[in-house]
Amino acid sequence: MKTIGVLTSGGDAPGMNAAIRAVVRTACQSGLNVFGIKRGYDGLINNDMQMMDLRSVSDIIDRGGTILFSARSEEFRTQAGIQKAIDVCRMRGIEGLVVIGGDGSFRGAKELSEQAGDIRFIGIPGTIDNDIPCCDYTIGYDTCMNTIMEMVDRIRDTSESHGRCFVVEAMGRYAGHLALNAGISVGATCILVPEVPYDFEEDVIKRLKRFLATGKQHFIIMVAEGVWHVNGSDPKGSCTQMAKEIERLTGIESRAVILGHVQRGGSPTVRDRVIASRMGYMAVNLLMQGQGNRIVAMQNEKLLHFDMHEAAKMTKGLDRELYDVAHIISI
Ligand code: F6P
Repeated sequence: MKTIGVLTSGGDAPGMNAAIRAVVRTACQSGLNVFGIKRGYDGLINNDMQMMDLRSVSDIIDRGGTILFSARSEEFRTQAGIQKAIDVCRMRGIEGLVVIGGDGSFRGAKELSEQAGDIRFIGIPGTIDNDIPCCDYTIGYDTCMNTIMEMVDRIRDTSESHGRCFVVEAMGRYAGHLALNAGISVGATCILVPEVPYDFEEDVIKRLKRFLATGKQHFIIMVAEGVWHVNGSDPKGSCTQMAKEIERLTGIESRAVILGHVQRGGSPTVRDRVIASRMGYMAVNLLMQGQGNRIVAMQNEKLLHFDMHEAAKMTKGLDRELYDVAHIISI
């Protein structure tokens, strides 16, 4: 193998730059050419890339976002788009592709690789949602949890001053990992996630009233964004509506906060930088060993890699034990 490409795809995540840096530096030091492909698969289809060297990734380890930019490519979902991407790889001599992104991005790489036959890919899990089945941990998750914690600590200050209830929405389109863990870290009174059905009367209103009776005067309800997707028909289907309902039914003055994209940015934590660096190094080494179509993954604090078919069969649920613990200690 002489030439590889690296791209970031899907929602960006803090730590992606550290992974890019590790990929580029490992490749350069191993005598490989490495192209930095811009805007994910859109850049690949449109031949938008540049040759990287050791210095093109200087001073990025501490930066959030991705220097290669990211996109969710519509064209790459089509047969014509995949074929264009394959043609560009052939023209540039790209034999190995490192894809930093989420599950959807890996599925795209799998298609490309299977159709091309001679282009191998390695996936590096990068998404704040931590929702990739074969991995305990995805790049950006740790930074994001810390960001949520910091933001909600601030909300707690004002919530305490005014004796209010805040309904805080964390990201996580399909998964509640962020809301659960960040919720525990801020001592949220209730944590609502898409994986666990809840009854608004029982699990929120009655709980708040019980705590009010014990003298508690301010509250944080941490909601994963995915809750609104599973409970789409729920009349309390948004933070704002839920806050209004809480105020109406309990008399506690309530406010809603959607943390939004602030959660996706910021300088990565130590954990994200170190794991991203290790994953980038491993990805290039796998390609050089002749391996391909594998996903690099952290499991039980060990860095492993799985065949993409094996990885596609895996499932990952929410840590129910942790959810139950949160329920007991948030009182
Ligand atoms: O990065 C994952 C994620 O943050 C989801 O939790 C969220 O629903 C989504 O991305 C929003 O992304 P965008 O605004 O880029 O479509």
